[in-house]
Amino acid sequence: MAIARVVIVGSGNLSHALVSRWLNSPHIAQLTVLARSDRYRVKGWSAAAMERVTYDDVCLSEASIVVLSVKPKDAPAALDHIARVAPNLPVLLSVAAGISIATIRSILPHSGIVRTMPNICSQVGRSVTGVAFDSVLPSQRAMVLDLLHELGETTETPESLLDPMTALFGSGPAYVLVFLRSIVDTAIKFGLDKDIARQLALQMVLGTSELALAQSQDSLDHIVSRVVSPGGTTEAMLKVLESQGWQDIMESALYAAGERASQLGSLEPARGRA
Ligand SMILES: NC(=O)c1ccc[n+]([C@@H]2O[C@H](COP(=O)([O-])OP(=O)(O)OC[C@H]3O[C@@H](n4cnc5c(N)ncnc54)[C@H](OP(=O)(O)O)[C@@H]3O)[C@@H](O)[C@H]2O)c1
Repeated sequence: MAIARVVIVGSGNLSHALVSRWLNSPHIAQLTVLARSDRYRVKGWSAAAMERVTYDDVCLSEASIVVLSVKPKDAPAALDHIARVAPNLPVLLSVAAGISIATIRSILPHSGIVRTMPNICSQVGRSVTGVAFDSVLPSQRAMVLDLLHELGETTETPESLLDPMTALFGSGPAYVLVFLRSIVDTAIKFGLDKDIARQLALQMVLGTSELALAQSQDSLDHIVSRVVSPGGTTEAMLKVLESQGWQDIMESALYAAGERASQLGSLEPARGRA
């Protein structure tokens, strides 16, 4: 597939994940990160990643794909800037939560637009990424999919599902990490060494995911039932989770994240594009 010149606008957490993964991509002829400040320098970027950073926006006019990786509140100003420097940009790929294709289209009327929601596991090639396309040529679409596949699994989806997917899978690593932290904190209270507890908890989540993947023909309920012996330890734990409303807590958390994603989008009209 054609080789792209990719510019990532923004040098924050997600950009770090993207640049780490795409540094040696066979699909990218030139990878540049357009930064606003040098804050990335204290965030553990590798020397190779830092070499890709520039403050010179001329790179925008040479890009075949610009990746918008700024906070939603900064997206309108960043898009205006991109439109000024590169009004005929071939493809704008946005990872910004809640920012709709219609909004991007209103600023970049001539570009192919890709709205996508990867997660931070992009850094290790294990993202689950939803993607919606608008006015993208087949060759550009193939190029974008090549790039997204390097981040992990990619699912094309109607744009209307991207806010829920943001809640479920964009924010998802945080739920898993908070869950892991609870286990490690409790393990330490039981007397386990902190590092050993962490290592074991991580392996447990990895092992459980691999097991469920290997048994994808079985329902999750069925897999759970294989771990639960009547009157056993797992049953005792699950009873506490159920009696304290585990399912309701998770559902409320996910709905809150989904609502926040929609709100971020609805803030757009008041964006003050000065
Ligand atoms: N983090 C995640 O796990 C995750 C997952 C999925 C999607 N996302 C989406 O990814 C986007 C970025 O999130 P993040 O967590 O990486 O945020 P972040 O760490 O705050 O990074 C945002 C970056 O954008 C830069 N920036 C803002 N306006 C700019 C401009 N006009 N030109 C160049 N750079 C500009 C900021 O510069 P300064 O360094 O100077 O502040 C900062 O480096 C968000 O829209 C978020 O919804 C994030």
